[in-house]
Amino acid sequence: LLSVGITGIGSYLPERVVSNIELEKTVDTSDEWIRTRTGIGSRRVADDQTATSDLATKAAEKALADANIKAEDVDLIIVATCTPDMPFPSTACIVQKNIGANKASAFDVVAVCTGFLYAMTVAEQFIKTGFYRNALVVGAETLTKVLNWEDRNTCVLFGDGAGAVFLQPVDEGKGILSSYMGADGTKGDVLTIPGGGTRMPINKDNIDQNLHCITMDGSEVFKFAVRVMGKAALAVLEKSNISLDEVDYLVPHQANIRIIEAAAKRLNLPMDKVHVNLDQYGNMSAASIPVALDEAYREGCIKEEDIVVLVGFGGGLTWASSVLKW
Ligand code: ACO
Repeated sequence: LLSVGITGIGSYLPERVVSNIELEKTVDTSDEWIRTRTGIGSRRVADDQTATSDLATKAAEKALADANIKAEDVDLIIVATCTPDMPFPSTACIVQKNIGANKASAFDVVAVCTGFLYAMTVAEQFIKTGFYRNALVVGAETLTKVLNWEDRNTCVLFGDGAGAVFLQPVDEGKGILSSYMGADGTKGDVLTIPGGGTRMPINKDNIDQNLHCITMDGSEVFKFAVRVMGKAALAVLEKSNISLDEVDYLVPHQANIRIIEAAAKRLNLPMDKVHVNLDQYGNMSAASIPVALDEAYREGCIKEEDIVVLVGFGGGLTWASSVLKW
């Protein structure tokens, strides 16, 4: 089996910044509450003309440029998203068209905030076995389009963005050392978009009740997240026989600073080895980890040969982790 690594990375965020102070004007909340309970200070919001595939395309183009690869050489495109442009065609097929990757197969993966790690692990298997050589994995979301902007429990938490990685065979012992994924569908109803699918087809009544928007039992998700982030990170380290003190950097899903701090504590990592950007971008679901990884790499937080752990959780419920030698 081949070793698989990230040979290109890029991200893209919409320009418009919405601060907590701006939200204070429209919902009963405060900058102080949002900062102390979540760590979020502002988020990016895509405009009416921008769909998920637009952000995904820009991130994908940057990852290809970073890898110095032409779109025609891409074999596989996987987009992780829970906010696709439409039920079908898949957002991955739209990205394939936009970048001109005419030889690539393309599909979406839905594991909500865990989507990017699920998608990267799927793509890794194709390359490991020699089925494909060049894979583009994108995490892209426009969650602000599925928020009830009058629900202070959810509208303060999320933002839009996209991050992409290009995966290829790399030297043995480098790249993705191991990955771990899990799901518990029995607890899925704590975080859902109930309407708009075949269970509750979209109609005027359910739109009036905002059933096409995110609903969440925040404290249940919080308890689950704190438990599973540490568990998933430790599991992947054990799988790859790496001890906690060998970990150089942690890139966690960016949902709540208190969840991230709990995970770091469980792993015995000081916060200067943990990437945090949710103060600027909020929770971008499947885009959070690749955007944070791109930032960490560009800011020099990750160096050649570093051991980097990626860990996330999300709707489903789902969780996943990967450990990489950069
Ligand atoms: N501004 C002011 N007050 C608020 C706000 C707000 N934006 N939101 C909620 N409150 C109020 C609540 O109404 C509640 O008031 P009450 O006690 O009068 O009913 C009070 O604040 C306290 O609520 P708690 O639930 O105790 O607050 P908590 O400390 O748990 O923080 C939070 C809430 C931030 C939602 C937290 O539970 C959390 O981060 N949960 C995880 C959420 C998450 O990560 N979701 C995304 C998962 S990823 C994915 O797959 C999409």
